[in-house]
Amino acid sequence: MEIPFSRWYAAIVRRRSRRLFDPKPVDPYLLARLSAVCEEFRPFTEVRAVLVGDSSDKVFKGAIGHYGKIKGAPAFIAFVGNMEDPNIQEKVGYLGEGIILEATSLNLSTCWVGGFFRPEVAASLAIIKENEKVFAVTPVGYVMEAWSLEEKIMTGFGWTHKRKSLTELVTGVEELKWPLWLKAALEAARVAPSAVNRQPWRFKVETHSITISVDDLKDTFNIPKRLDCGIAMLHIEIASLYCGVQGKWEFLEPPDVARFKVERFDKG
Ligand SMILES: Cc1cc2nc3c(=O)[nH]c(=O)nc-3n(C[C@H](O)[C@H](O)[C@H](O)COP(=O)(O)O)c2cc1C
Repeated sequence: MEIPFSRWYAAIVRRRSRRLFDPKPVDPYLLARLSAVCEEFRPFTEVRAVLVGDSSDKVFKGAIGHYGKIKGAPAFIAFVGNMEDPNIQEKVGYLGEGIILEATSLNLSTCWVGGFFRPEVAASLAIIKENEKVFAVTPVGYVMEAWSLEEKIMTGFGWTHKRKSLTELVTGVEELKWPLWLKAALEAARVAPSAVNRQPWRFKVETHSITISVDDLKDTFNIPKRLDCGIAMLHIEIASLYCGVQGKWEFLEPPDVARFKVERFDKG
């Protein structure tokens, strides 16, 4: 499946992590549509998304503290990958974010959950193979339009949604010389979600390329920063395609993660 860049680009700015759900079942048409995208969006053979139309509470039970408390979602999606692949974290981030943006465009709410869930429960419900693991999950469902006080407390009254400025995140070619597509790509990466909003990605801009690296090699909350970087990779690619620019990713050695090299300018 090709990246539906117009739909997913619009979803990038609308997506917010939501944690308290209305348990009412998801419209079967939307569930079928999301399930089809889980099957069709396979950018890498080693990762896949499995939609489980079952109450997600069993998967999230036992999470510690306010952060990570997910309640009431009628379904969840498991992001499953081959443990032997050295770039599996980036691939899980890239694939999972595509599914999350698709859900967002269907007006369904989600929340990346990388640490505070029960992988063995998710694995048995998603039915995985011996060499696979559930790296992360997301609840899927409906939420109230207005945020409850409980949910506001969970997100630190919006603190967990604040992002660093591009000046703090980008090195290389100076901003005045950025073409439109590059500015859009970096802005899309800047608003990407990351575990505990740690924003570990750094971007080095050269003529016709963006290199992503991590701020340091210390992973926190047992969630690899390379997973966050995989999410930012997809955001960069969606915004570039939206601006008529096609490129290819190449995986790199730590602390670098991956480089996006422009291959074709269709317009602009
Ligand atoms: C890889 C990853 C793992 C995450 N794990 C959790 C988690 O375990 N529990 C939780 O409540 N939120 C989790 N989040 C959600 C982040 O806290 C959230 O994306 C971040 O604070 C930014 O807020 P926003 O998604 O509303 O923009 C995770 C996000 C990512 C990308």
